[in-house]
Amino acid sequence: AKKAVLGPLVGAVDQGTSSTRFLVFNSKTAELLSHHQVEIKQEFPREGWVEQDPKEILQSVYECIEKTCEKLGQLNIDISNIKAIGVSNQRETTVVWDKLTGEPLYNAVVWLDLRTQSTVENLYKRIPGNNNFVKSKTGLPLSTYFSAVKLRWLLDNVRKVQKAVEENRALFGTIDSWLIWSLTGGVNGGVHCTDVTNASRTMLFNIHSLEWDKELCDFFGIPMEILPNVRSSSEIYGLMKAGALEGVPISGCLGDQSAALVGQMCFQDGQAKNTYGTGCFLLCNTGHKCVFSEHGLLTTVAYKLGRDKPVYYALEGSVAIAGAVIRWLRDNLGIIKSSEEIEKLAKEVGTSYGCYFVPAFSGLYAPYWEPSARGIICGLTQFTNKCHIAFAALEAVCFQTREILDAMNRDCGIPLSHLQVDGGMTSNKILMQLQADILYIPVVKPSMPETTALGAAMAAGAAEGVGVWSLEPEDLSAVTMERFEPQINAEESEIRYSTWKKAVMKSMGWVT
Ligand code: G3P
Repeated sequence: AKKAVLGPLVGAVDQGTSSTRFLVFNSKTAELLSHHQVEIKQEFPREGWVEQDPKEILQSVYECIEKTCEKLGQLNIDISNIKAIGVSNQRETTVVWDKLTGEPLYNAVVWLDLRTQSTVENLYKRIPGNNNFVKSKTGLPLSTYFSAVKLRWLLDNVRKVQKAVEENRALFGTIDSWLIWSLTGGVNGGVHCTDVTNASRTMLFNIHSLEWDKELCDFFGIPMEILPNVRSSSEIYGLMKAGALEGVPISGCLGDQSAALVGQMCFQDGQAKNTYGTGCFLLCNTGHKCVFSEHGLLTTVAYKLGRDKPVYYALEGSVAIAGAVIRWLRDNLGIIKSSEEIEKLAKEVGTSYGCYFVPAFSGLYAPYWEPSARGIICGLTQFTNKCHIAFAALEAVCFQTREILDAMNRDCGIPLSHLQVDGGMTSNKILMQLQADILYIPVVKPSMPETTALGAAMAAGAAEGVGVWSLEPEDLSAVTMERFEPQINAEESEIRYSTWKKAVMKSMGWVT
């Protein structure tokens, strides 16, 4: 039987570090109608290196689109109702490809990758004027995390990249640019663009003028002609050139953390969300002001929803390892077979029994920015078993969030009264309860946790020339909230947190 008329639909690609998804929403109710997900391989060719295959990433996007369309067909939903597609993506991950062949010239260097540590140290010595040169323009500390240093490494070390630049064949992009260029035709007229949110993570972008910055490009030695055009987060960039959705406009583009901020409707100054993916990222909307942190947070572009719309900024606390620690327990230690099993193990014991796990696999990000840190598990006794380690891993995610929430509260002056959360890990009820206990404020999660994709779909549907999504919707009946209240007393919460801080201190200085 035919389903009731749905109204216009919008699709969203959510290309994360661990997996790719394609999701289709009803633009009137924000209801998720169907989706498909594919896990993405990560390669670790050397200690500290993290790479992915750009072609596998692109292929996974096509596969997710095709499978989702098939599922919609099985639900008797006509895919010609899909009026626009948004793209959200893992940020900073760096790709260089040949515009004449469409071939990547090296694997994607993933945001977590640490190979640029010495590049960063050398750049530090050359910062012109005061140390604020990079931070005041970009909002970012000089770190291995951001694209500019990854691109510098590729230019210094990969002959194919050097040659393509010399021959004017090279294009640089973060994952959004790689995908949009490929999906809109690639060598046959693909559009080479990015949006302001992704650009703001490259370390080459001036977040005040919203343009590539010549002085930064000179400092990092980056040829400006390989950079994509910077567009707003909501406008038609081009049309899908192949597959089941050929001809549909791609009209939304946001880095995944910005997309989640939009999907959680954090449109007001002071509204914040925390997304638990591979890493964990707390963003607080600061309105039209660039707020610079005194406590280790980043200043970043939150979104700009239309060519003529104003830009919004955010303060961001970035934690490198959240879901990644669960994947590590599965793939490297083998103590669980699937990520969902972690909840069962943790539940069996209900405590870490004094065990603390600092998963500083890629050094520590906010608020420490300490590349010398490495992961430690401490407080072990003969009594400790895999359940306690599982529990400690979940607690680590919550403690890291507490550290960035504390920094955020100090920078903003007005403490958050509750925390809006989303992302894959939020289906873990133990994690959510622990988070409320450790923050000592309520944790609120939408029943539909795919807010990253929702944000990208909203941006795509609201774009000029598409106009099927109102950013002030009347009917959000599909979005209900679940609340977790703190259950332990504040004193107990503080004791646990101070022991965690001791463990963090022990994780530092492993690499000199
Ligand atoms: O900055 C990196 C971030 O965008 C990655 O997000 O969801 O893959 O952890 P996620």
